[in-house]
Amino acid sequence: MTDGTTQSFEELTRAAVSELESIDSLDSLETWRVAYLGRRGRLTLMLRSLAQMDLDQRRTAGALGNQAKRTLEERLELRSQEISEARLARSASEDRLDVTLPGRPVTIGRLHPTTQIIREICGAFTAMGFSVVEGPEVEWDHYNFEMLNIPLGHPARDMWSTMWIDYSNAAGEHPMLLRTHTSPVQARVMESSRPPIRVVVPGKCYRYEATDATHEWHFYQVEGLAVDEGITFADLKGTLYEFARRLFGEERKVRFRCDYFPFVEPGVDMSIDCFACRGEGNGCRICRDSGWIEIMGAGMVHPKVLAGVGYDPDKYTGFAFGLGPERIAMLKYGIDDIRLFYSNDLRFLRQF
Ligand code: FA5
Repeated sequence: MTDGTTQSFEELTRAAVSELESIDSLDSLETWRVAYLGRRGRLTLMLRSLAQMDLDQRRTAGALGNQAKRTLEERLELRSQEISEARLARSASEDRLDVTLPGRPVTIGRLHPTTQIIREICGAFTAMGFSVVEGPEVEWDHYNFEMLNIPLGHPARDMWSTMWIDYSNAAGEHPMLLRTHTSPVQARVMESSRPPIRVVVPGKCYRYEATDATHEWHFYQVEGLAVDEGITFADLKGTLYEFARRLFGEERKVRFRCDYFPFVEPGVDMSIDCFACRGEGNGCRICRDSGWIEIMGAGMVHPKVLAGVGYDPDKYTGFAFGLGPERIAMLKYGIDDIRLFYSNDLRFLRQF
């Protein structure tokens, strides 16, 4: 019996090993494993049949059986390694890497032209001692209008076509909106600090307006505010003149004309002489023949606005201004349609 068993184990091992040598895929290897070493595999069943033998025979045959099992497991492991290595070598030689090929160029992002011009504008003011602050884009009617001397029902509200947020308070009012300008941050800054104040406020604004070459429904503004004792209109003019020179060139001339904004008194619009035609007009496309280009609204902070935030208007005065950076970039770089800024056309964006 023992001899027969010895022979059976040896034969089985020989047959299994020779079968193994001809296997060259991991799938077939698994089939082989199941056939010999699986739960119902040939070797497993032979080992199980040893239970019928008496103790002495079982001891000897069991040792032979375990030896056969160890051999098959070791050969299996070895073959599996050989097949994996061969596969790796094959794929390396098939997809050979040519290290002499030039690498793919890394595309480096750049700043959006609006961001660039906002940084330039804010840089001109920070060089004059202003700091940069920001405020919320979703704003209360209270700050966007009321604190700016534009009470409910005031006709000046029509100057800013407003996008209201679909939210009503207990009184059934809709007091929340997308800010129509950056001016509400004037009131927020004054409420939370004391003079002297010198800030510029870049930020996004929204208006319920049809778009055209010079109007977007969402655009940026940069607001400015200076409040202190003894600030005069001369300070406003000097600061904005210096700004125009820094942005548009040393020899720029500026012009102030009366304008109306409820939160300043007096209010002005500021123009620079056209840098394309040097103020001469002569059919110039940039200034539409006028020689002047309007760049912002400005004025002395209205005493009612100062009083509204608890400042004594007899003691403090200030000036404020608001400009559109996209319009400034259009002038500076000769861009003829504001909608290009937000249409995500890379041919446009890559020029900056
Ligand atoms: C205002 O919004 C005032 N808050 C500005 C101001 C601030 C005046 C402080 C006095 C004191 P206005 O509506 O004119 O003003 O807008 C100011 C600038 O925002 C414009 O000169 C323009 O450059 C830009 N702007 C206004 N509407 C649009 C629009 N639809 N698309 C693009 N830019 C716009």
